[in-house]
Amino acid sequence: MYTSVLLSAMAMAGLAVAGPVQVAERQTAKLKIMPLGDSITEITCWRAFVWDQLADAKLADQVQYVGSQNSNPQNCKPTTANWDQHHEGHSGWLAIDIANSYLTGWLQKTPADIVMFMLGTNDVFRGHSTTEIIAAYTKMVNIIRASNPKTKIIVDLVIPLGTGSTSGITSLNAAIPAWVKGLNSTDSPIVIADCSQGFPTSDLRDGVHPNIAGDRIIASRVGPLLLNYVRQSLGKTA
Ligand SMILES: *[C@@H]1O[C@H](CO)[C@@H](O)[C@H](O)[C@H]1NC(C)=O
Repeated sequence: MYTSVLLSAMAMAGLAVAGPVQVAERQTAKLKIMPLGDSITEITCWRAFVWDQLADAKLADQVQYVGSQNSNPQNCKPTTANWDQHHEGHSGWLAIDIANSYLTGWLQKTPADIVMFMLGTNDVFRGHSTTEIIAAYTKMVNIIRASNPKTKIIVDLVIPLGTGSTSGITSLNAAIPAWVKGLNSTDSPIVIADCSQGFPTSDLRDGVHPNIAGDRIIASRVGPLLLNYVRQSLGKTA
């Protein structure tokens, strides 16, 4: 009898402690956004400019960028001084390798509510076909949804190349809309940020990576879609 009284007293004490802790966690949990990509995500400034859009919309304190990387290699200077520099951009990496060997582990370490990715440029450089790259995209979406079935996804049409395999980029971008249609779902929507249309190769600083004007174009295409997702996730109207 003593034992059962003691146990129920402990249970009550446990409940009294667990309640407030859970509420506190819910209030402070930020929406997790993973910028995923290659050097066009790592050594560029569009992530910073998108953060400015989040700050302007008064959403920045409720979100965080996540990823194994925490860097600002281009020394970007957005308006918002304390922007979140976490990301999963890896210079030179292929969508195929990320899908086959890395994304599962990255999402285990830093789970995400929203994943936005631009990938495929290095695959094109290495001569991989659109079919192979799209298969990697499918694998990535499956990994993302296995990690969190409600992940909201933004896929970018890839920016143009100033040199080399422009036909590979054009072919990849042309395949993305039909690919999205086949995989889109209410629980885990996929939207397309068109970073290709109207992006002049003169806005590439080296034939591959955007200069500041190019970063501004990418941010202008990705940012509004991200803000929509963030508002939906937080239950806010625009
Ligand atoms: C995917 O579905 C969502 C609704 O669930 C929709 O808002 C979005 O536009 C769709 N994506 C595309 C590319 O059609």
